[in-house]
Amino acid sequence: MSATTVNIARGLEDVIFTESSLCYIDGDQGKLYYSGYKIQDLAEYSTFEEVSYLLLHGKLPTRAELKAFSAALVAERALPRSLIRNIKAYPKTAHPMSALRTAISELGMLDPHEDEISPEGLYQKSLSLIAKFPTVVAAIKRSREGLSILAPRKGLSHAANFLYMSTGKVPSKEETKLMDVALILQAEHGFNASTFTAIAAYSTQADLYSSIVAAISALKGPRHGGANEAVMKMLAEIGSPERVSSWLAELQAKKGRVMGMGHRVYKAYDPRAGVLNKYAAEVAAKHGHSKEYAILKEVERQAGAIYNPKGIYPNVDFYSGVVYSDLGYGLEFFTPIFAVARISGWTAHILEYTKVDNRLLRPDSLYTGKLDVPYVPITKR
Ligand code: ACO
Repeated sequence: MSATTVNIARGLEDVIFTESSLCYIDGDQGKLYYSGYKIQDLAEYSTFEEVSYLLLHGKLPTRAELKAFSAALVAERALPRSLIRNIKAYPKTAHPMSALRTAISELGMLDPHEDEISPEGLYQKSLSLIAKFPTVVAAIKRSREGLSILAPRKGLSHAANFLYMSTGKVPSKEETKLMDVALILQAEHGFNASTFTAIAAYSTQADLYSSIVAAISALKGPRHGGANEAVMKMLAEIGSPERVSSWLAELQAKKGRVMGMGHRVYKAYDPRAGVLNKYAAEVAAKHGHSKEYAILKEVERQAGAIYNPKGIYPNVDFYSGVVYSDLGYGLEFFTPIFAVARISGWTAHILEYTKVDNRLLRPDSLYTGKLDVPYVPITKR
């Protein structure tokens, strides 16, 4: 066998390893559905609680079901005291994704039933993680800023409470809607690198926390969740809309990549970027953060002319950063916000995988090394 006779699925592209009814992506048409519902409809009419219910249960909730589900999330929001104490002691210089990874690992250690994998146990732990992620991220943010860590507020929705715990202010309806939209758009996306990593870890029957820690680690990279942070760094590097042309020429010369553009699956405009573009435009018009938005529009126009014909378009991360900054988050918190959203998708996939397949993931590689090499004792090498 050689690389020419074996078909190597580099990057696992187009490899189908299981079935799922959670998410359908039509990458050529730029369409995305969660459990059959168009992402645009969910972003416009739904809330993060409703979308999390949809992902965990495969159907939209009735009023009574949503009320009970939301109450169950509220009941799970608070963190153990010892974790809050430890978060305060984390180095302020650590990246918040590293802090999040550590905090979720600690949550696992603090759960006396960490290893429980019964369907009910898994579901309950999933709810608990969805509820606690915003509390953990807000605590990390406030601790880094030298501010007191705030307890969750019962009367607020998931999105509003996350904003409140992060900023200390009860958000307006408009801010809450913006956070809801951002969380809904990033809640699920099939077998991306972090979800696949979660399933790979879970397929060994590692516990849920360990699988989620693995997913957080995969999300951190700039080719995945870290891209939204990289977009804001790119904007700072460009500096002004007038500089886009020369910056782009330099980027092309060094064969660099435009952050927030391109996608393994979408070869058309990412529909999530379309929704965020609309909200980012409104935010930019209202609050005057128009410089970043103006640069993005110019990058989209000029880079689009070069890259769109190759199927490279803005992805969800292109506009998410300007929305998050407007909501009061520094750029190192963009990926943690992504994680606050994606915890619903990660847990929903794990719950689904236990029912559909539950098989150990174990791919193979084409061996290119030597065989039967004579062993030479160390004294003779
Ligand atoms: N800018 C310029 N060129 C690009 C870009 C880009 N953003 N993305 C891909 N290309 C080019 C590559 O240079 C390569 O060109 P070549 O064939 O001449 O060498 C070609 O397109 C194919 O690139 P691959 O990396 O093989 O394609 P892949 O499908 O793996 O790309 C990826 C997906 C990694 C996301 C890529 O588009 C990228 O690096 N984008 C920038 C980072 C980013 O925005 N990531 C967020 C993804 S969305 C998410 O995770 C939520």
